[in-house]
Amino acid sequence: MIFKDIYRGKRVLITGHTGFKGAWLSLWLKLLGADVVGYSLAPPSQPNLFEAVRLADDVTHLYGDIRDRDNLHRVMTEYQPEIIFHLAAQPLVRLSYDDPHLTYETNVMGTVNVFEAVRRTPGVRVVVSVTSDKCYENREWAWGYRENDPMGGYDPYSSSKGCAELITAAYQRSFFSQSQPGRPYPVALASVRAGNVIGGGDWGKDRLLPDCIRALSADQEIVIRYPNAIRPWQHVLTPLSGYLMLGANLWEHGPKFVGGWNFGPVAGEMVTVDEIVKTTLALWGKGNYRLDHQTNPHEAHWLKLDCSKALVELGWRPQYSVLQALEKSILWYKLFYQHVDPAELKDYTISQIKEYEQVLPRRAG
Ligand SMILES: NC(=O)c1ccc[n+]([C@@H]2O[C@H](COP(=O)([O-])OP(=O)(O)OC[C@H]3O[C@@H](n4cnc5c(N)ncnc54)[C@H](O)[C@@H]3O)[C@@H](O)[C@H]2O)c1
Repeated sequence: MIFKDIYRGKRVLITGHTGFKGAWLSLWLKLLGADVVGYSLAPPSQPNLFEAVRLADDVTHLYGDIRDRDNLHRVMTEYQPEIIFHLAAQPLVRLSYDDPHLTYETNVMGTVNVFEAVRRTPGVRVVVSVTSDKCYENREWAWGYRENDPMGGYDPYSSSKGCAELITAAYQRSFFSQSQPGRPYPVALASVRAGNVIGGGDWGKDRLLPDCIRALSADQEIVIRYPNAIRPWQHVLTPLSGYLMLGANLWEHGPKFVGGWNFGPVAGEMVTVDEIVKTTLALWGKGNYRLDHQTNPHEAHWLKLDCSKALVELGWRPQYSVLQALEKSILWYKLFYQHVDPAELKDYTISQIKEYEQVLPRRAG
């Protein structure tokens, strides 16, 4: 029994289920016995995990825009979710420079719209809102950011996630901390801040591993921009296990677990872009890379999370090293590029989830 078995039979709404993290989370929740409803725009890339494993066969799949407040409310009224994981976002730093309006509209007002729909849907008991490690005011310092450090963000994407955090805190304090007429339980709302996630099935633009895979699968050279940049790389199942542990605790204990939570790699495991690319090449078995010397938009060079809160209070910990995360990811992509049947790819994806379940700490059970 993992995650206290609380997801079994629960109606769970995921925004962003057609995206990379949302598709993995949907599959995991199905495996845990949840009745999953997904609400999203179309998958953000071609190819994508959602279609590659035919996820629409497993979940109630709804196309919808989080910027459409009335539609969100209508869907929540119709499907009456008990638990919500809000992942839908414009998640790309570079695109946020090109289209800041879309980024703020989606990540800020989209989040407000989700919370407004929750306010009007009495059956919702738990909301986990996904932001980013980039929500913090980045001081380029050597130690990790803690949950109570100030919000900020240099670029529009990062600042939109900082804004989403402030909104989450305001809704928790103002609307969700007490039971209200027609709502037997207060809503337990938490936000989760994870760093750069890798895993099979991501083809997001301007993301390091997807960029590598796109180049390698087309027999092209990989081009990298910031070889010395360090990111908190982790396998996608690592933060997702944290979100699920947190959701289970919010369901059971409510107020004690509301607020912000960091989920990052173990301290000391800070790997550069250059190291990730060299390891990817070794695992793929062939290929080359070169540096892009053009001027690129500002990106933070050092970002580290302090995850003591999740380690101590949830008993969560990352189960894979960065190398293991890369190994699992490359195995997945290799299978995909063998053009196997979607059913076989889904089975393999589920087997990676089950493998991760096996190494989860006992307190997750
Ligand atoms: N992947 C990472 O490394 C990473 C790191 C930190 C934070 N995050 C956060 O995790 C979440 C998921 O990221 P991802 O990597 O799966 O991104 P993704 O681009 O793969 O998926 C984004 C999802 O959001 C949906 N979406 C976008 N705009 C929408 C709108 N207006 N209405 C409804 N749906 C909309 C897309 O259809 C898709 O399902 C995001 O909130 C992102 O900011 C991701």
